Amino acid sequence: MKFESVEKEKERFMNNCLVLKERKGFPELLKFLETTDFFEAPASTRFHGCHKGGLMFHSNNVAEVFHNLVKEHNLEISTESVMLCGLFHDICKTGMYPFKEDGSIGYVKKTGHALRSIEYISKFVELTGEEKEIIKYHMGYYGCKEFSPWGGEYTIKEICTGNNNFLTAVFHYADMFASRIYDAEDKDGI
Ligand SMILES: [Fe+2]
Ligand SMILES: [Fe+2]
Repeated sequence: MKFESVEKEKERFMNNCLVLKERKGFPELLKFLETTDFFEAPASTRFHGCHKGGLMFHSNNVAEVFHNLVKEHNLEISTESVMLCGLFHDICKTGMYPFKEDGSIGYVKKTGHALRSIEYISKFVELTGEEKEIIKYHMGYYGCKEFSPWGGEYTIKEICTGNNNFLTAVFHYADMFASRIYDAEDKDGI
């Protein structure tokens, strides 16, 4: 996947958002995004999407990979939920990776990850139980308290034996696939 420009990527993002335009609170969520650095922020300091617009690029990639998997395998979930989870699962990264004056990427420590994304979205849009699960477990085993260098948000037991829908695993795969393959291609495959 090629990243062309912030403008082009925003066009792609807004297109992906179309299916959500009737969702209660969604216009307010978009308005909130405009007050943050979401559209220009990188997705990380030195890993995937570490460039201007990288977070939006990653979000578009995850949403589209997840959408394609759902279509290809006839999985039962609405396109609305697919796009909401894909486009906003990492909204917690807004304000975390500010560009410094020299162009390098800074880091503002914030606690939590997926649960913070749920918190941000829920200020405007009421998430379904399934959407909450998909976003909560999107880090897969990387988000387990037992492994995570940043603390984690759930236990291994919870992710192995909890009621989390198998779509959480498909979404985690989409997130990994997008960050390892699609997000990287604009950086010569790194
Ligand atoms: Fe994430
Ligand atoms: Fe992600």
